[in-house]
Amino acid sequence: MEIIVVKNDQEGSEKAFELIKTGLENGNIKTLGLATGGTPLKLYAKMREAKLDVSDVSTVNLDEYVGLPADSPQSYHYYMDQELFNSLNFKETFLPNGMAKDLEAECKRYEQILADHPVDLQVLGIGTNAHIGFNEPGTPFETKTHVVELTQETKDANKRYFEKEEDVPTHAVSMGIASIMAVKEIVLLAFGESKADAIQQMVEGPVTEDCPASVLQNHSKVTIIVDEAAASKLN
Ligand code: F6R
Repeated sequence: MEIIVVKNDQEGSEKAFELIKTGLENGNIKTLGLATGGTPLKLYAKMREAKLDVSDVSTVNLDEYVGLPADSPQSYHYYMDQELFNSLNFKETFLPNGMAKDLEAECKRYEQILADHPVDLQVLGIGTNAHIGFNEPGTPFETKTHVVELTQETKDANKRYFEKEEDVPTHAVSMGIASIMAVKEIVLLAFGESKADAIQQMVEGPVTEDCPASVLQNHSKVTIIVDEAAASKLN
Protein backbone atom coordinates (compact mmCIF):
# COMPACT_ATOMS: atom_id res chain seq x y z
CA MET A 1 0.00 0.00 0.00
CA GLU A 2 1.30 3.43 -0.85
CA ILE A 3 0.00 6.05 1.56
CA ILE A 4 -0.08 9.69 0.53
CA VAL A 5 -0.96 12.17 3.27
CA VAL A 6 -2.26 15.51 2.03
CA LYS A 7 -3.42 18.67 3.78
CA ASN A 8 -7.06 18.50 2.85
CA ASP A 9 -9.64 17.02 0.50
CA GLN A 10 -8.88 19.58 -2.20
CA GLU A 11 -5.25 18.52 -2.40
CA GLY A 12 -6.21 14.84 -2.17
CA SER A 13 -8.74 15.18 -4.98
CA GLU A 14 -6.14 16.87 -7.15
CA LYS A 15 -3.70 14.00 -6.56
CA ALA A 16 -6.37 11.44 -7.47
CA PHE A 17 -7.32 13.47 -10.52
CA GLU A 18 -3.71 13.51 -11.74
CA LEU A 19 -3.46 9.73 -11.35
CA ILE A 20 -6.64 9.22 -13.37
CA LYS A 21 -5.73 11.80 -16.00
CA THR A 22 -2.31 10.20 -16.56
CA GLY A 23 -3.88 6.73 -16.81
CA LEU A 24 -6.41 7.97 -19.34
CA GLU A 25 -3.81 9.84 -21.39
CA ASN A 26 -1.40 6.94 -21.64
CA GLY A 27 -4.20 4.51 -22.49
CA ASN A 28 -3.83 2.43 -19.32
CA ILE A 29 -7.39 3.08 -18.19
CA LYS A 30 -10.04 1.60 -20.47
CA THR A 31 -12.45 0.82 -17.64
CA LEU A 32 -12.71 3.11 -14.66
CA GLY A 33 -14.33 1.91 -11.44
CA LEU A 34 -16.28 4.60 -9.62
CA ALA A 35 -17.74 5.23 -6.18
CA THR A 36 -20.45 7.56 -4.90
CA GLY A 37 -20.77 9.35 -1.54
CA GLY A 38 -19.29 12.58 -0.30
CA THR A 39 -15.63 11.64 -0.68
CA PRO A 40 -15.17 11.74 -4.50
CA LEU A 41 -17.24 14.88 -5.10
CA LYS A 42 -14.26 17.21 -5.54
CA LEU A 43 -12.49 14.65 -7.73
CA TYR A 44 -15.54 14.46 -10.00
CA ALA A 45 -15.75 18.26 -10.09
CA LYS A 46 -12.15 18.35 -11.32
CA MET A 47 -12.89 15.72 -13.96
CA ARG A 48 -15.87 17.76 -15.18
CA GLU A 49 -13.89 20.98 -15.29
CA ALA A 50 -11.05 19.33 -17.21
CA LYS A 51 -13.56 18.15 -19.85
CA LEU A 52 -11.59 14.92 -20.20
CA ASP A 53 -12.12 13.02 -23.43
CA VAL A 54 -13.36 9.65 -22.24
CA SER A 55 -15.09 8.53 -25.41
CA ASP A 56 -13.27 5.20 -25.37
CA VAL A 57 -13.60 4.61 -21.63
CA SER A 58 -16.22 2.50 -19.86
CA THR A 59 -17.19 2.91 -16.23
CA VAL A 60 -18.53 0.52 -13.64
CA ASN A 61 -19.87 1.62 -10.28
CA LEU A 62 -19.50 -0.19 -7.01
CA ASP A 63 -23.07 -0.26 -5.86
CA GLU A 64 -26.68 0.90 -5.95
CA TYR A 65 -29.52 0.93 -3.45
CA VAL A 66 -32.30 -1.59 -3.82
CA GLY A 67 -35.69 -0.07 -4.57
CA LEU A 68 -34.70 3.38 -5.82
CA PRO A 69 -35.37 4.08 -9.50
CA ALA A 70 -32.58 5.69 -11.54
CA ASP A 71 -34.40 9.04 -11.58
CA SER A 72 -34.73 9.17 -7.78
CA PRO A 73 -32.39 11.93 -6.54
CA GLN A 74 -31.04 9.62 -3.82
CA SER A 75 -30.14 6.82 -6.21
CA TYR A 76 -26.54 6.32 -7.21
CA HIS A 77 -27.61 6.38 -10.87
CA TYR A 78 -28.88 9.91 -10.35
CA TYR A 79 -25.76 10.94 -8.42
CA MET A 80 -23.48 9.66 -11.20
CA ASP A 81 -25.54 11.38 -13.89
CA GLN A 82 -25.33 14.68 -12.04
CA GLU A 83 -21.70 14.48 -10.98
CA LEU A 84 -20.12 12.96 -14.07
CA PHE A 85 -22.12 11.21 -16.75
CA ASN A 86 -24.14 14.22 -17.96
CA SER A 87 -20.89 16.17 -18.37
CA LEU A 88 -18.38 13.69 -19.81
CA ASN A 89 -18.65 11.54 -22.93
CA PHE A 90 -17.98 8.05 -21.52
CA LYS A 91 -18.40 5.23 -24.00
CA GLU A 92 -20.69 3.28 -21.67
CA THR A 93 -21.54 3.41 -17.98
CA PHE A 94 -22.70 0.56 -15.75
CA LEU A 95 -24.29 0.47 -12.31
CA PRO A 96 -26.17 -2.37 -10.65
CA ASN A 97 -29.93 -2.16 -11.21
CA GLY A 98 -31.45 -1.95 -7.76
CA MET A 99 -34.93 -2.15 -9.30
CA ALA A 100 -34.36 -5.58 -10.82
CA LYS A 101 -37.18 -8.01 -10.01
CA ASP A 102 -34.71 -10.86 -9.65
CA LEU A 103 -31.82 -9.43 -7.65
CA GLU A 104 -29.82 -12.65 -7.68
CA ALA A 105 -29.92 -12.65 -11.48
CA GLU A 106 -28.93 -8.97 -11.41
CA CYS A 107 -25.85 -9.82 -9.33
CA LYS A 108 -24.86 -12.46 -11.91
CA ARG A 109 -25.45 -10.01 -14.77
CA TYR A 110 -23.23 -7.45 -13.04
CA GLU A 111 -20.43 -9.96 -12.47
CA GLN A 112 -20.55 -10.69 -16.21
CA ILE A 113 -20.25 -6.97 -16.92
CA LEU A 114 -17.18 -6.86 -14.67
CA ALA A 115 -15.72 -9.90 -16.44
CA ASP A 116 -16.29 -8.23 -19.82
CA HIS A 117 -14.89 -4.90 -18.58
CA PRO A 118 -11.94 -5.63 -16.28
CA VAL A 119 -11.45 -2.56 -14.11
CA ASP A 120 -8.10 -0.87 -14.67
CA LEU A 121 -8.43 1.65 -11.87
CA GLN A 122 -11.03 1.64 -9.10
CA VAL A 123 -11.83 4.71 -7.01
CA LEU A 124 -12.87 3.74 -3.48
CA GLY A 125 -14.12 5.56 -0.42
CA ILE A 126 -14.28 3.91 2.99
CA GLY A 127 -17.05 3.75 5.59
CA THR A 128 -16.49 4.68 9.23
CA ASN A 129 -16.79 0.93 9.93
CA ALA A 130 -14.18 0.26 7.19
CA HIS A 131 -16.70 -0.99 4.64
CA ILE A 132 -15.71 -0.77 0.99
CA GLY A 133 -18.52 -0.72 -1.53
CA PHE A 134 -21.36 -1.83 0.72
CA ASN A 135 -19.35 -4.74 2.07
CA GLU A 136 -20.02 -4.45 5.77
CA PRO A 137 -17.88 -6.01 8.54
CA GLY A 138 -18.24 -9.78 8.45
CA THR A 139 -18.62 -10.03 4.67
CA PRO A 140 -16.61 -13.06 3.47
CA PHE A 141 -13.60 -12.03 1.38
CA GLU A 142 -14.62 -14.38 -1.45
CA THR A 143 -17.97 -12.59 -1.99
CA LYS A 144 -18.74 -11.40 -5.51
CA THR A 145 -21.51 -8.96 -6.46
CA HIS A 146 -24.27 -9.55 -3.92
CA VAL A 147 -27.34 -8.18 -2.18
CA VAL A 148 -26.42 -6.54 1.12
CA GLU A 149 -28.49 -5.64 4.14
CA LEU A 150 -27.17 -2.29 5.31
CA THR A 151 -26.01 -1.96 8.91
CA GLN A 152 -27.51 0.64 11.23
CA GLU A 153 -24.17 2.52 11.17
CA THR A 154 -24.27 2.78 7.39
CA LYS A 155 -27.94 3.78 7.36
CA ASP A 156 -27.18 6.46 9.96
CA ALA A 157 -24.28 7.75 7.89
CA ASN A 158 -26.43 7.92 4.75
CA LYS A 159 -29.63 9.34 6.22
CA ARG A 160 -28.38 12.88 5.63
CA TYR A 161 -29.34 12.40 1.98
CA PHE A 162 -32.95 11.43 2.75
CA GLU A 163 -35.91 13.44 4.03
CA LYS A 164 -36.95 10.87 6.61
CA GLU A 165 -34.94 8.15 8.28
CA GLU A 166 -37.47 5.52 7.18
CA ASP A 167 -36.78 6.48 3.55
CA VAL A 168 -33.21 5.16 3.76
CA PRO A 169 -33.12 1.89 1.82
CA THR A 170 -32.43 -1.23 3.85
CA HIS A 171 -30.60 -3.12 1.08
CA ALA A 172 -28.14 -2.49 -1.73
CA VAL A 173 -26.50 -4.41 -4.55
CA SER A 174 -22.74 -4.16 -4.22
CA MET A 175 -19.64 -5.45 -5.90
CA GLY A 176 -18.19 -7.96 -3.45
CA ILE A 177 -14.78 -8.00 -1.84
CA ALA A 178 -13.56 -10.54 -4.42
CA SER A 179 -14.89 -8.34 -7.26
CA ILE A 180 -12.99 -5.37 -5.83
CA MET A 181 -9.81 -7.38 -5.27
CA ALA A 182 -9.91 -8.42 -8.95
CA VAL A 183 -9.35 -4.86 -10.20
CA LYS A 184 -5.86 -3.96 -11.45
CA GLU A 185 -5.33 -0.82 -9.39
CA ILE A 186 -7.12 0.91 -6.51
CA VAL A 187 -7.09 4.51 -5.33
CA LEU A 188 -8.81 4.85 -1.96
CA LEU A 189 -9.66 8.32 -0.71
CA ALA A 190 -10.52 9.25 2.88
CA PHE A 191 -10.97 12.70 4.33
CA GLY A 192 -11.85 13.87 7.83
CA GLU A 193 -11.44 12.66 11.38
CA SER A 194 -14.47 10.36 11.22
CA LYS A 195 -12.42 8.07 8.96
CA ALA A 196 -9.30 7.97 11.18
CA ASP A 197 -10.15 4.72 13.00
CA ALA A 198 -11.09 2.93 9.78
CA ILE A 199 -7.85 4.04 8.12
CA GLN A 200 -5.74 2.95 11.08
CA GLN A 201 -7.42 -0.48 11.17
CA MET A 202 -7.18 -0.89 7.40
CA VAL A 203 -3.46 -0.08 7.26
CA GLU A 204 -2.09 -1.29 10.58
CA GLY A 205 -4.62 -3.82 11.85
CA PRO A 206 -4.84 -7.51 11.02
CA VAL A 207 -6.36 -8.63 7.71
CA THR A 208 -9.75 -9.72 8.90
CA GLU A 209 -13.32 -9.85 7.64
CA ASP A 210 -14.25 -7.71 10.67
CA CYS A 211 -12.46 -4.86 8.88
CA PRO A 212 -13.39 -5.26 5.20
CA ALA A 213 -10.88 -2.67 3.93
CA SER A 214 -7.99 -4.54 5.57
CA VAL A 215 -8.16 -7.00 2.66
CA LEU A 216 -6.54 -4.28 0.56
CA GLN A 217 -3.25 -5.08 2.33
CA ASN A 218 -3.26 -8.16 0.07
CA HIS A 219 -3.75 -6.22 -3.18
CA SER A 220 -0.65 -5.52 -5.24
CA LYS A 221 -1.43 -1.95 -6.31
CA VAL A 222 -3.24 0.30 -3.85
CA THR A 223 -2.74 4.01 -3.28
CA ILE A 224 -4.37 5.50 -0.21
CA ILE A 225 -4.84 9.27 -0.33
CA VAL A 226 -5.76 10.63 3.11
CA ASP A 227 -5.87 14.07 4.63
CA GLU A 228 -4.10 14.79 7.91
CA ALA A 229 -7.29 14.24 9.93
CA ALA A 230 -7.98 10.81 8.43
CA ALA A 231 -4.29 9.89 8.89
CA SER A 232 -4.19 11.14 12.48
CA LYS A 233 -4.38 7.68 14.11
CA LEU A 234 -1.67 6.07 11.99
CA ASN A 235 1.49 5.19 13.92
C1 F6R B 1 -20.08 4.45 -2.36
C2 F6R B 1 -19.56 3.37 -1.53
C3 F6R B 1 -19.27 3.54 -0.08
C4 F6R B 1 -18.66 4.90 0.28
C5 F6R B 1 -18.44 5.01 1.78
C6 F6R B 1 -17.94 6.38 2.17
O1 F6R B 1 -20.30 4.01 -3.68
O2 F6R B 1 -19.42 2.28 -2.02
O3 F6R B 1 -18.40 2.51 0.34
O4 F6R B 1 -17.47 5.07 -0.42
O5 F6R B 1 -19.63 4.75 2.45
O6 F6R B 1 -18.95 7.32 1.97
P1 F6R B 1 -18.65 8.88 2.04
O7 F6R B 1 -17.74 9.19 0.92
O8 F6R B 1 -20.00 9.54 1.85
O9 F6R B 1 -18.03 9.13 3.38
